[in-house]
Amino acid sequence: MKHKKKQIKTEDGSMTYRLEVLKENYHSLYGAVTESRFVYVTEGFNFWTQKNKDRECNILELGYGTGLMSYLSFLEADKISNFINYTSLEPYPMTIEEVYLLKYDQFFKNSRDLMTFNKFSALSWEVAHEISPYFKIIKKEIFFEDFKSQKLFDLIYYDAFGAHAQPKLWEPKLMKKCYSLLNPGGVWVSYCAKGSVRRGLKDSGFSVFRLPGPPGKREMLRAVKG
Ligand SMILES: C[S@@+](CC[C@H](N)C(=O)[O-])C[C@H]1O[C@@H](n2cnc3c(N)ncnc32)[C@H](O)[C@@H]1O
Repeated sequence: MKHKKKQIKTEDGSMTYRLEVLKENYHSLYGAVTESRFVYVTEGFNFWTQKNKDRECNILELGYGTGLMSYLSFLEADKISNFINYTSLEPYPMTIEEVYLLKYDQFFKNSRDLMTFNKFSALSWEVAHEISPYFKIIKKEIFFEDFKSQKLFDLIYYDAFGAHAQPKLWEPKLMKKCYSLLNPGGVWVSYCAKGSVRRGLKDSGFSVFRLPGPPGKREMLRAVKG
């Protein structure tokens, strides 16, 4: 967001930003890469692909932020040869300088000839980019509340800041919106395990599962559209 950001090194050595004014970090201090991979790639994308072998996965991300989750998804799509069509929403894009300061390029040493994190971050907004045989991405500068889509998604990465900072984003109304944006069998995942969010998801029609969380967090949530 447009507030002052402070860089922080997390426990796995990867960097993140803190917004002092919201008392929020972009990622977990127990490991930015570790948590993003665990919650969204393993418990989201890998879970979905196990049930939908060789199908294109349409992912919607709330909060592009640093681009870390989208880049991790790109790497995973290539690794398991499963196509992802990725849409990411972000009303407050970071400057490219802010993203480069996180030095994620040093963290990802690609053995294959894949696009680097810095090049990935420089992709223009509002345009779809097919950057590999397994990954297409469009980044949109928009609030989730205002986002409308003709097409439905298979997977939602719900990565808003915490409820104390952005309570509206966790209200039942937006959980219902998530439900309506998903295909049958579609999956919603988040680091959040709050009881009120769980109830909002259930009341919207989801089957909700509390899963063991990433390092430092007891639980996370996965919800499936029946
Ligand atoms: C926890 S961070 C997301 C981190 C990101 N997934 C990453 O990999 O770096 C939350 C993000 O949600 C964005 N955001 C805030 N309000 C939003 C809204 N109404 N709709 C969509 N995104 C929003 C913030 O600007 C921030 O970038």
